Amino acid sequence: MAVRFPSAWLDALRERADIVQIVSSYVPLKKNGHRYVGLCPFHNEKTPSFNVDSQKQLYHCFGCKASGSVIQFIMEIERLDFPEAVAHLAELLHMPLPEMQNDPDYERRRTLKERIYLANQAAARLYHQMLWEPQGEAILSYLQRRGLSDTVIRRFGIGAATGASITKPLLDQGFTMEELTSAGLLYQREGRTGDMFRSRAIFPIIDAYGNVLGFGGRAMGEAQPKYLNTSDTPAFNKRYTVFAANLLRKAKGLTRVILVEGYMDVVALAQFGVEGVAATLGTALTPEQARMLSRYAPEVWLAYDGDSAGQHAILRGLSVLEAENIPCRVLDLPGGLDPDEYIRQQGVDAFYALRPISGVTYRLRREKEGFDLSNEEGRTAYAKAGASILKTVREPVELENYVKQLSFETGFSREVLLEQIGVTPRQQKLPQAKREALRNQINEVNSTDMTALTLLAALATGRLPAGAVSADEFLNPQLHAIAEALLRGQNMASIMESQPDAQGRALIATITEIQTPADDAGLRQMAQECLHRMRREQLDAELEEITRSLPNVPESERAAVHQQLMRVMQQRKDLD
Ligand code: GTP
Ligand code: MN
Repeated sequence: MAVRFPSAWLDALRERADIVQIVSSYVPLKKNGHRYVGLCPFHNEKTPSFNVDSQKQLYHCFGCKASGSVIQFIMEIERLDFPEAVAHLAELLHMPLPEMQNDPDYERRRTLKERIYLANQAAARLYHQMLWEPQGEAILSYLQRRGLSDTVIRRFGIGAATGASITKPLLDQGFTMEELTSAGLLYQREGRTGDMFRSRAIFPIIDAYGNVLGFGGRAMGEAQPKYLNTSDTPAFNKRYTVFAANLLRKAKGLTRVILVEGYMDVVALAQFGVEGVAATLGTALTPEQARMLSRYAPEVWLAYDGDSAGQHAILRGLSVLEAENIPCRVLDLPGGLDPDEYIRQQGVDAFYALRPISGVTYRLRREKEGFDLSNEEGRTAYAKAGASILKTVREPVELENYVKQLSFETGFSREVLLEQIGVTPRQQKLPQAKREALRNQINEVNSTDMTALTLLAALATGRLPAGAVSADEFLNPQLHAIAEALLRGQNMASIMESQPDAQGRALIATITEIQTPADDAGLRQMAQECLHRMRREQLDAELEEITRSLPNVPESERAAVHQQLMRVMQQRKDLD
């Protein structure tokens, strides 16, 4: 269910949620002009570089480049998604959510969802109780045979669906048949109803706020299906959640989240003290799950089963994480083992000794296994496959490492491999300083952009006369979009929230850091100068382009191109 808040309502929320006040309840701030400064809550530091701007209602850290609006601050610090952070703030400020006020259908779905949470919680309690009773003995001893301690059973609230039905006790607690069916606890087929889970060990699936969304049930012995999960309900959608999300939220200061395939893997690792582990629920990793995991730690490590199904799932998972720009690595489990088997057979030290490898190293490793490197044909085929993987590597120093390794494995020289990859040796041999400059050009703003950013800062004051600047002055599509948003009257906080990634947010933060004259005349003059410089640079680029193309223009078009050249030169002269 996508929640869309009206933008006017969001503006009202941002206005009422004074960012300085909200941030102050997490971070002590000191006043410095209209800025407030404190120790950044998002990275470790001893001298304060975390700034909160009361005028622009934005925060920015000069150390780790974290930046955003008050809503984004709540998202980061409370680890919530956007609608959740909005709801959190709204509650804090006693502002009713717009949907709840006037959408009866939304209200009905919300109440049903809450009833399902309550029914599931009651069911989880019953299952857990039954595990310790005589009727749960077979299931308890199954879990104990698999090495689970009582402590870890309690921690995860693992239970037993036995031969006895949980319908009656739940009806006695006031739940209706409809609610229990909607929750997926009962099934109704051909007019008959029955318990969904029987003779299974039960793993409650709990979200970050402690709501019981559904269950996974492990069959005893070889009964099929091995795992039965609650099917999708109004309160549960496998694509949006992971097993053990509740424990992820509790674990503070995680440096990575480990994602595994199975319930048993999460529980086994937890028993050995490995924190920050979650599992997908029998489906391939979805972008929604990937984004959710990325909120808990700076990296996601895939630790799927070491068998061939697991290996394929890792390759797919890497693509999903990379598409979401989430830093990720792989724990490549040896011998076809899953994490549960590995940690029980080899011990926790062996588990910690597994080094996480990059996606590229993992892909190369898997490719290599497919070829016979003892003959030239195999080595050639592997070199080609490897080179195609290395096309994705952006950092020259990293590329160098991989190329060295591939050269060692295949016997091809580094130059030949670089050519196969499509990097010319000239590009490769750029001196260090130039290489750095090239990287800065990609990662940071150059001076041309700086002029454009200054103009955007002037535009953001809202004090330029109408029509003074058009969005078409900005050739860079990202800046063009920001200009359009500003001209539409959107404020910086809401533009900040619409940025798709950290790079976009850092860009907005850069714009808000630019000082603009307080007086209108000064501001207008500054905007004029920026416009002038941008147009000059644009025309210079155009001139260069035409001049460069001139030798290759066919005879028939030469006159036209010449005329164009003269026209642009005249325009350029007019600007001096
Ligand atoms: P154990 O045999 O209990 O150790 O299970 P495992 O954790 O090794 O599970 P496995 O590698 O077989 O499967 C990994 C995950 O896939 C499980 O935790 C389930 O979420 C899911 N899964 C496995 N088998 C089934 C099944 O039969 N049906 C469904 N829906 N999901 C399954
Ligand atoms: Mn297993």
